[in-house]
Amino acid sequence: MKPVNVGLLGLGTVGGGTFNVLARNAEEIARRAGRGIRVTHAAAREYDPSLLASLEGVRITDDAFQVVDDPEVDIVVELIGGYSPARELVLKAIENGKHVVTANKALIALHGNEIFAAAQEKGVMVAFEAAVAGGIPIIKAIREGLAANRIQWVAGIINGTGNFILTEMRDKGRDFADVLAEAQALGYAEADPTFDVEGIDAAHKLTILASIAFGIPLQFDRVFTEGISAITPEDVAYAEELGYRIKHLGITRRTDGGIELRVHPTLIPARRLIANVDGVMNAVLVMADAVGPTLYYGAGAGSEPTASAVVADLVDVTRVLTADPENRVPHLAFQPDAMSDLPVLEMARVETAYYLRMSALDRPGVMAEVTGILGELGISIEAILQKEPPEGQPTVPIIMLTHRVREGSMDEAIRRIEVLESIQGKVTRLRVEHLS
Ligand code: HSE
Repeated sequence: MKPVNVGLLGLGTVGGGTFNVLARNAEEIARRAGRGIRVTHAAAREYDPSLLASLEGVRITDDAFQVVDDPEVDIVVELIGGYSPARELVLKAIENGKHVVTANKALIALHGNEIFAAAQEKGVMVAFEAAVAGGIPIIKAIREGLAANRIQWVAGIINGTGNFILTEMRDKGRDFADVLAEAQALGYAEADPTFDVEGIDAAHKLTILASIAFGIPLQFDRVFTEGISAITPEDVAYAEELGYRIKHLGITRRTDGGIELRVHPTLIPARRLIANVDGVMNAVLVMADAVGPTLYYGAGAGSEPTASAVVADLVDVTRVLTADPENRVPHLAFQPDAMSDLPVLEMARVETAYYLRMSALDRPGVMAEVTGILGELGISIEAILQKEPPEGQPTVPIIMLTHRVREGSMDEAIRRIEVLESIQGKVTRLRVEHLS
């Protein structure tokens, strides 16, 4: 059968990896897909041919719209990243009747509803496995492998750069900026690394996971997002002392009141498998009613791990190219006319346990004042650590773990504790999840 022609937008870290994997494993891929898959047209502003397999027979342009408008191209692979012109290119490809594969989480999280509606109307596929957790086939696992289940919650380490930074801070006491620079050099970090550190990249991915887990529309603007830049070496050490690890988690959970959608640093018991996912590795833990917990682990970024997911999508699209659009796997796992309108919960209504750290004057009655406020708001304490005052300082660090409580009550407690004369500065608050 005639090979499928691919138009590749981008020949950078992921584009180059995709090109090389397609060339290196061409025979094996054709045996799986039922026909060959070859890149015939590529768009790149800059590329290094010495890092790529043979470019013979590939037209190269610096104008991505030429690829999207090429009548010979069957599938457009968008690996440029960012919102624009990626959105315009993908919509143009769909308008031209081409199938699309993308690794662009920002694009899907923000514009996915519009893109899938356009694709549905045109009867073309848009595949995005590489958009979440790089090489881990988590989209396929949730959308197809777990299709029998009612999913209860999903919690994931879905940003490799952030996990690398937290791991190096814990293990080697390395400087934040130094570790970030290494992640950038290795091609893991986003073009704007604040996306990694402040949780925006993880929020993009969580938006997609929530949608396919619960059949809700993509709602990036409703994700509560808190980054890791304020985590101190002391918090990392106190968490360890209490038997926890700090991980930057994306969490989405189905509750009676709606869907929780949140990204924040989280203390998790050190004995959980996911607490031991270190470095740039990603992991996603899914709790579902029939199968119970399942954990998916692997490389969440990097050239060939991400290419692995892109090429798997190309194989999928190739296999069903001729299938009737109504008989294909729906883009967001649930049939478009069967999406749920469950609301996303406001953060104030989310229930979780907490780690609190504060600096208190070392004098009688302080602990009673703090615990009094927590008691009045119905917040139950699970553990308290009080440390020696650092040499020559009048304040002592107090660390507390609480039982689960609504975020709104904790906000109020922190407001009241911070105005106590005996408490100096801000209260550090990290959320705790037992993931059991
Ligand atoms: N910047 C992302 C990460 C790349 O570090 O995980 C993969 O999406």
